[in-house]
Amino acid sequence: MREEYTIFHLSDTHYNGENLDLLALTLENLVEIAPRYVLFTGDVVDGPKYSPRPFVRMIRGALARVEKKTGRPPVFLVIPGNHDFFWKGTYGFRKDRRFYQAFREEERSFFFSPGDEIAVAPFDSNRVLEPRGGFRRRLLQRVRYKSHGLVIEKDLDDFSRHVHDLKKSKDGMIYRRSLKIALIHHHLLPTSYNYLPALADESYMMLENAGVFIYRLIQDDFELILHGHRHYPQFCRAAYYDPTGDEKVISVLGCGSSGKPYDQWIAGSGHNFNVIHIHRDGSVTARQYFKFGTGGFLPAERVITIRGPSKGNKTLEHEPGGWFGPQF
Ligand SMILES: [Fe+2]
Ligand SMILES: [Fe+2]
Repeated sequence: MREEYTIFHLSDTHYNGENLDLLALTLENLVEIAPRYVLFTGDVVDGPKYSPRPFVRMIRGALARVEKKTGRPPVFLVIPGNHDFFWKGTYGFRKDRRFYQAFREEERSFFFSPGDEIAVAPFDSNRVLEPRGGFRRRLLQRVRYKSHGLVIEKDLDDFSRHVHDLKKSKDGMIYRRSLKIALIHHHLLPTSYNYLPALADESYMMLENAGVFIYRLIQDDFELILHGHRHYPQFCRAAYYDPTGDEKVISVLGCGSSGKPYDQWIAGSGHNFNVIHIHRDGSVTARQYFKFGTGGFLPAERVITIRGPSKGNKTLEHEPGGWFGPQF
């Protein structure tokens, strides 16, 4: 029978050298929850001029405490956000050296555990130019703000090839029934606002090729996308017919900011992290945690259903382990 475990999803901490108290509170909750997976969807720092190292040391300390508590180190995976690479998340040239130095290759790579029946695909959505695009497309991409995202086609092809290889591997059957999660920083679906916030319209914030991205994931049976970026913890679903005519549903769970200093956005949405539960019967649920004002983090009443119980629920014949693919 499958073991139960939890995934801790945090995002948009925007470390700026001063907000360590807020970040420490989020990490205290992480240690308390003692998850098996910690997934971080970008904007670790507020800008590439800030070294992430002091905060990364705190994260590693929290992971070590979870290991002490549970006897196994949590799997930690992280992707970059626009603030990790661009000045104010919006301007200038991409500066990615500090991010890549702070996080190890296996923390930024495709992960598959046959034991936990989970696969996690990380994507870098902070590309500026599509190398395969024509002159006009690249010209427009060059002059736009950098806060809206792009996943280049080569990365999508590498992802599909990787998934194809996994399906044909010795653990192919386990891979097929595993929970498949994609990590991306940017929004993929419109946000449920009742008003249009200044400088935050959809075209400014969303992934440029969101349709292509979602459809590629759907064709490879991904069920859950975790993202950050807008500091708005939205949950929604999309359903599409795949090329064979089967209807496929994908859930999209956003995380708000898990520790950015207070601003007008945080005042409205609160600080946030998500906890995803993988149950013994194969079902997957999520709960969002919120912190308003000077209070602590509290779980929302609503339990989000990502996946219902699976049929069969066979005993696993593989030990938990990792399978690492190409670095993005
Ligand atoms: Fe952010
Ligand atoms: Fe962002």
